[in-house]
Parts: sequence; structure tokens; C-alpha cells
Amino acid sequence: MSSRTQDLMRPKSAMFYIGALEDIADDFVEFVMKDVRGSADGLTNSGDLLRHIQYYSLESICAITLDARMGCLKDTPDDDRVLAVMNAIETVLADMAKCMLGPPLFKIHPRLSPPFVRMGAGLDVFADFVRDKVSEARSRMEVASPSDTRNKSVLEKLILRCGPESSVPAVIAFDMCIAGIDTTGNTIAFALGFLARNQRAQEMLRAEVQNQKLTETSIGQMKFLSACIKETLRKIPIAGGIARVIPNDLVVSGYRVPANTVLITDLQTSGHDSRHFSDPNEFKPERWLRENPDRDNPNPFSNIVFGHGSRMCIGKRFAELEIKVILAKLVQNFRMEWAGEKGPLGPEWEFVNKPNQPVKIRFHPL
Ligand code: HEM
Repeated sequence: MSSRTQDLMRPKSAMFYIGALEDIADDFVEFVMKDVRGSADGLTNSGDLLRHIQYYSLESICAITLDARMGCLKDTPDDDRVLAVMNAIETVLADMAKCMLGPPLFKIHPRLSPPFVRMGAGLDVFADFVRDKVSEARSRMEVASPSDTRNKSVLEKLILRCGPESSVPAVIAFDMCIAGIDTTGNTIAFALGFLARNQRAQEMLRAEVQNQKLTETSIGQMKFLSACIKETLRKIPIAGGIARVIPNDLVVSGYRVPANTVLITDLQTSGHDSRHFSDPNEFKPERWLRENPDRDNPNPFSNIVFGHGSRMCIGKRFAELEIKVILAKLVQNFRMEWAGEKGPLGPEWEFVNKPNQPVKIRFHPL
């Protein structure tokens, strides 16, 4: 991890955005409230919440990395360009998986692979948007008074550190946006799926967050909320595994693996190992609570859902805060009930784990 990105891992870096994330989560709650009031069955968005969850995630990551509000959750987004960016991102995420998992015909000629061509066009739209937002931030900083001592955003710190001509801030912001949309969005969808099926856990969470303003201190004290996120990612790790090329020969469980082999850990398997987790198939957030005498005490490497070491996820703190804010707000405002037609919500692997059926949740306003 470089010194440019190390700063991102500090909890304070994420907390800078707590107000913005609360505003975005309020827009999400308002969307659900309006949609539910207009429906006879308490279901939102014709029964699949996933698209709006991804909009929450897109809006949040753009607020974090580009200092930009887009209005993705409003009835009409802030301008036509936002609509183009939202469409471009949807295409990129769908086609990226097809390019990764399908036959690599684009290596022979790009035109042989329509998903590759579409993904390239979508990435161009988004890259232009990111470049423009970075130059807007630069211009704002140029006219700011030298005595401006307020805390700086991630983007402003990157611009200051890399210099006015550098393209690095735009590259990092672009990477963070692409890596931070469906990873966080799908985790929110799975957490809601678990909570909507598990009224006991939902009640415990509600008891913790009810009537609480979301501040750095109060969020730090919401241990059950953190535990719900850990438990969701244990049950369904969004990145199925962590990959490394091993530099030296290695013996793993009695097998000799030669240097330069790609090794991939299987997070789903290690997270369900009964040597580390009691009742591993159950959704039990309380297994993570320190004050619980029956808590599990797993090997820390059994659940490295954000990776480990110098290549670990640089968006961990932001993702956790985004998920905490929206779960707290939803549980404060609604009782949720799972209404999926194909049993519990589970994963389908498509480069990252994504919901295997429409995310159907019945919302009862409180
Ligand atoms: C719940 C949400 C997320 C999960 C589960 C997740 C998980 C991961 C994992 C497992 C890795 C590979 C780590 C390794 O190889 O050791 C990774 C890398 C990465 N993640 Fe995330 N991520 C999430 C959200 C985010 C967000 C919100 C951002 C951006 C703000 C982000 C940006 C990145 C980047 C840029 C890398 C590559 C780091 C590098 O190679 O140095 N992720 N993530």
C-alpha cells in the first residue's frame, strides 16, 4: 500500500463523510417510504430493491472520492450527464463479468466481443466524468484562501500530495469508484436479506440504533451493527477469495506448491469451517460480540473478507461506514420482512458474489 493510499485506511478518513452519507441514506429512506406508500403489497420498485441499493452505493462513492453529489436517488437525477454516468456504470458492471468469465475473444479483436466494446465505451464515459470532477476540485482549491484550515476530503488530500499536474488523483478516484459500487451494494443487499428473514437479529439491531443520532461516537458504540456486517460477509464474502502469486515454493496441507503459482483462498469455505464458527450455517451476529460469553473465537485468517497485507482493500473503512449508515437508517424507519419467492437470498458468483434472485423486501413503516 503506498503512502498515497495509506491515509484512506484511517477510520477518521471515512468519518469525514458521515454527514454526506446520512443525507444519501435519508434520500434512500424517502425513496422507500414513497414507493411503499404507493404500493398495495409493501414492496418497493416492483419488487427488486437491488438497482436502488446500487444507486445508494454509486452516490456514496462519488461523494467520497469525487466530492460530487449526483442525485441518483432523486426522482430525476441532477442533470442528463448523471443519467449517462448511471447507465454507463450499469453496463460496465454487467459487461465486466462477461469479459472476465466468457471466452476472451477480445484478445483476437475487440469487435469480436460486444461486452468488451460496451464496457470500453462505458468506462470512457465514466473516466471523462471523473477527470472533470477532479479538475473542478483543483479549481476550487486554487481559489480557496491560503488560511483555509478545514479538514480536507480524500480527493483534496490526493491533489495536494500528488501536485497540480499529476493524473494520479484521477486514477485512484476512478479505481475506487469502480471497485466500490457493487461490492458495497451487494453486501447491503445480503445484509438486508439476512435481517429481513431474521426478526430476532433485526430487533436486536433496532434496540441498539433506535433514537440514536449517527455520530462518530455513537456509531463506534454500535457493536451489534458492526457484528451484522461481519456476519453478512462471513456468510457471503463478496470477493469469493484472495489471490496471490507465491514467490517461493510452499507446502500447504501436505501439498508442495511451486513458486509463481496463483493461490486463491476460498473465503466461503473458511468462513463456514465449524472448527472456527459454531453453527456455521446460521446467521448469528452475536457470535462476534466481545461481551458474549458464547462468542466464537476464530483464527483471524479464517475470515479475511477485505484481504490482508499490503494489497488489502483500501475502501474497507468507507464500505463499512456506508453499510452501517444505511442499515441503521432503514431499521430505525421500517420493520422489514423477506418476500423473495425462491427461498432465502443467496449468492450467485459473477466476478463478485451478487444476489441470486430479486431483492424483495416488504417494508412496514414504524
Ligand atoms: C463490502 C465491500 C467491499 C469488500 C468486501 C471488498 C473486498 C476487497 C478485497 C477482498 C480486495 C482484495 C484484497 C487483497 O487481495 O488482499 C479488495 C481490493 C480493493 N478494494 Fe475493496 N471491497 C469492498 C469495498 C470497496 C470500496 C468501497 C472501495 C473504494 C472506496 C474498494 C476499493 C478497493 C481497491 C482499490 C482494491 C485494490 C487494492 C490493491 O490492489 O492495492 N473496495 N477489496
